[in-house]
Amino acid sequence: MHSYSLIAPAKINLYLEIIGDRPDGYHELAMILQSIGLADRIDLRANGTDEIRIRCSDPNVPADETNLGYQAAALMAEQFPESFNRFGGVDISIQKHIPMGAGLAGGSTDAAAVLVGMDLLWNLGLTQIEIQELAAKIGSDVPFCVTGGTAIATGRGEFLAPITSLENLYVVLAKYNSISISTVWAYQTYRQQFHASYAKDSQDLTDRRQRVHSGSMVEAISHRNGKRMGELLHNDLEKVVFPAYPPVAQLKQEMAQLDTLGVMMSGSGSTVFALVESQEQAETIQNQLRSRISDEDLGIWIAPLIANGIQLARPTAH
Ligand code: C5P
Repeated sequence: MHSYSLIAPAKINLYLEIIGDRPDGYHELAMILQSIGLADRIDLRANGTDEIRIRCSDPNVPADETNLGYQAAALMAEQFPESFNRFGGVDISIQKHIPMGAGLAGGSTDAAAVLVGMDLLWNLGLTQIEIQELAAKIGSDVPFCVTGGTAIATGRGEFLAPITSLENLYVVLAKYNSISISTVWAYQTYRQQFHASYAKDSQDLTDRRQRVHSGSMVEAISHRNGKRMGELLHNDLEKVVFPAYPPVAQLKQEMAQLDTLGVMMSGSGSTVFALVESQEQAETIQNQLRSRISDEDLGIWIAPLIANGIQLARPTAH
């Protein structure tokens, strides 16, 4: 097979707690990550040259070495030079549906799809754990994007413990197209403002990690208790994003007035999502939000919670 098409779902954070600093400059996190049915499509084709070429349906997405999909392919070429010599480079085509700078791991999931696709393209037969180890070199959210579903993520975000998958709930996602938030900025600002609350030592770190594993949100998820989950949604990064981006804070306030299970910002923003019980309820919320905020800059999407990460769309034989 010389080409593969993959579906790369976005994620939301049902829970994001910053628990401390790390020697590598990143943060120790305790998160609960959830895949959703809003996805990019990635087409990969062995091009028989020594180049990695990338193009994207959205002109705002960089089609160069800064693209995480490109970085994933470059990493594969570096790790598996024999395969690179044998099959050559790849053409990566990204059909973008996940908004950028949104806290939905759009770039990370594209990179995850490139890793999964190149493993197939080059017949490497890597295990899921091997793919996730490569994924962690690209970015903190990339390992989760490979397998997806519902998972507790600790460390930088790369240590994953899958939990009960949630498939019957929906989210309404809302994002101002003109507001994209830098993840680097969000974490740096958090460090500047909240360093005093970070874990003091390794015992404190372990205790805080443990609290999430045994915590109320995990229990609510295991009982598939949407109402309780809605109450327990949490994201520390709201504390730095909302003061710096008032429209995002206002968007959450507006959404919180509607009849949902709960409302929260995803990742470092700028997406705010509402958790709801059905597609029908999601459509009602979408309509109500449209009539409350008549701003063309506001994008609104509906997506189900899903139990998978990267999947094959349809192989194209030659
Ligand atoms: O890993 P990734 O490149 O996606 O992370 C983007 C930025 O987010 C990092 O450069 C860092 O500033 C911040 N970050 C962090 N701690 C994490 C994950 C991300 O400080 N666990």
